[in-house]
Amino acid sequence: MTDLLHDERIHHDVTAPNEVPGPGTANPLMFFRRWLANPLQMGSIVPSSGALCRRVAGQMRRAPDEAVIELGAGTGVISRALLDAGLPAERLFVVEIVPAMAAHLRRVLPGVNVIEGDARALPELLPAQWHGQIGTVVCGIPLVLLPLAEQRRFIDAIEAVAPGRGFLHYSYCATSPLPWRRHRLTARREAWTPLNFPPASVWRYRPADAA
Ligand SMILES: C[S@@+](CC[C@H](N)C(=O)[O-])C[C@H]1O[C@@H](n2cnc3c(N)ncnc32)[C@H](O)[C@@H]1O
Repeated sequence: MTDLLHDERIHHDVTAPNEVPGPGTANPLMFFRRWLANPLQMGSIVPSSGALCRRVAGQMRRAPDEAVIELGAGTGVISRALLDAGLPAERLFVVEIVPAMAAHLRRVLPGVNVIEGDARALPELLPAQWHGQIGTVVCGIPLVLLPLAEQRRFIDAIEAVAPGRGFLHYSYCATSPLPWRRHRLTARREAWTPLNFPPASVWRYRPADAA
């Protein structure tokens, strides 16, 4: 853990690991402003609903010695649901590309490993001792809006740190947001909720040769 604590890309708030965040986690105004600035990066105009967050958290799988990664944590509402579902804060790594949102995550998620950076560089961003020690990866980045080759970069980055585990991906699409056969993945819709704007599904993708 020494490397982790001294890695300057990761904010690990060791001073207040059990502090309960205030009610401002969702921060819809900040989310909306970011959507105005870059709609493709955000993929939605409002943060994920409580119903969606709980459905994602309900699909989390991990052994006690494994960690969980959330890519594109935004306002941190899904991260919060993962913690509420029993994940220890120090076992959660969240990656967020927008500096202001990463700063927000540091404020509202004490004890969580907040990494400011591009999820496509996940193998370099995640400390080496956690490679292969990941039970679940949650991807909140709107991959459906990206060309195939760009989607592949995210999939490959996840596969590099969590070989064979695949990832959870929530989406507002009526069908799979990823062309899973072309990516040589298996796809399964694990959950759906109308209690989100827009209604959302939780998909689980895995490498086809690991299924
Ligand atoms: C759909 S939003 C996340 C919603 C989140 N569940 C919430 O309710 O706040 C997608 C997030 O992915 C982030 N993002 C987009 N591209 C990214 C990338 N390449 N690396 C890391 N984060 C990225 C965006 O800044 C945004 O915060």
